[in-house]
Amino acid sequence: MATDGVPVGTGEAPAGDGAARCPMHLGDAFGNMPYPAYKEMQEAGPVHPVTLRDGSEAYIVTRYDDVRACYGDLRLSSSLDDAPKPKGAGSMAAPPVGGLVLRRDEVSGHMMINQDPPTHTRLRKLVVPSFSARRVNAMEPHILDIAQAVLAGFAGRDGADLIEEYAKPLPVRVQSALLGVSPDKHEEFTHGMDELTGGSTVEAAQRGLDLIKRLLAEQIEDKRSHPAEDLLTTLVQVAEEEGRMEEIELLATAIQVMLAGYFGIQSMIGNCVYWLLKHPGKKEELLADPSRMPAAMDEIFRFDGPQQPGSNRYATEDIEVGGAVIPKGSLVILSVSAANRDPRKFADPDVLDFGRANADEHVAFGGGIHYCVGSRLALKVVGLATLSLFQACPGTRLAVPDRELTWELRTPFRGLRSLPVLLR
Ligand code: HEM
Repeated sequence: MATDGVPVGTGEAPAGDGAARCPMHLGDAFGNMPYPAYKEMQEAGPVHPVTLRDGSEAYIVTRYDDVRACYGDLRLSSSLDDAPKPKGAGSMAAPPVGGLVLRRDEVSGHMMINQDPPTHTRLRKLVVPSFSARRVNAMEPHILDIAQAVLAGFAGRDGADLIEEYAKPLPVRVQSALLGVSPDKHEEFTHGMDELTGGSTVEAAQRGLDLIKRLLAEQIEDKRSHPAEDLLTTLVQVAEEEGRMEEIELLATAIQVMLAGYFGIQSMIGNCVYWLLKHPGKKEELLADPSRMPAAMDEIFRFDGPQQPGSNRYATEDIEVGGAVIPKGSLVILSVSAANRDPRKFADPDVLDFGRANADEHVAFGGGIHYCVGSRLALKVVGLATLSLFQACPGTRLAVPDRELTWELRTPFRGLRSLPVLLR
């Protein structure tokens, strides 16, 4: 990629006044197939300037070792207080969502993902027990029931859109079960998520977020009088113990868990099913021996994990990355998906290889202190959903050629807009 004199990799700042750079637009075309662009950026240097859909500028880090090092560098802050003011019309600083930059509000500023220590440490400790191996394993029968219930709707049908009819309803039900959201709210939550990710305007996305916020606030109120064995009740009880969690942090945590889980799982069910349909031999091997699923999942998350382009950080001082310097005050994107295709780390990175020895070293779930708290649950849900689908409908195959499929960037996740299949 021509960098127009941008001094990436030279030890000088890769920034300038904007005129002397060749930023990449992380818009729709990029969302459809980002990997060639990542490769060009990786080869061009350790750091590359990019422009988000709303015009905000950022620096993207794409090489595996650099991404790992940046995750461990606390001078790269997650706090919105350190975020640059975006260029998007009228918006205040907030992390980019689907290439849009939402208004920073009283809630987003309190999400753990937007915090540095010590606040981050305190908030994270309160939710980690709810994602233990024991808790996640205990959810397995329930996840299977949810998958079976959705799949029952496919009986006798010739075809389906697996995003709209499978990948979408599943996570909203799993997340609701985890949090303790009442089933009669599923439809409204789905509507809020759709608006949030419709991605057309900042206003529509903000409306969606406001709806989700209101629904969760109502559910939290309900838990005060009707406690149950769920994450919302745990958080309500923790908030009632003085000093452990403020009310606003409780709402922010609930929203973050709902959103992260919903979009991540939705995108990844689509990716996982799609790639197995493209590799029918591998799909058959997994169906014959489901004990190979965990290793296969690591490789699929490495190969095409949903977080795109990556995690956001804000440089609190000039930061040297692989010999280039990112200037203080910049928005920095740590591209987990580029890192997962870095040939310096993974041999033949563009090949899906279930025998890859180091597949579990992927960074699809991030790294450092913000490493995905729900990774265990995500792997469980995506794995069970994929196997359940192919067991129930073994004849599933793509109904359209690849050129008719569209991938889109939603929130920080990329996924298929639709996945039309023939079921028999
Ligand atoms: C396919 C699914 C998922 C992927 C690829 C994914 C990916 C990630 C990544 C890359 C991060 C780090 C972000 C950063 O460093 O800024 C993260 C953080 C987080 N994820 Fe996930 N995630 C997924 C599913 C889930 C699920 C199911 C939940 C919860 C139910 C969840 C909850 C969280 C939370 C709370 C954080 C913030 C952790 C912190 O700030 O300490 N994620 N996720």
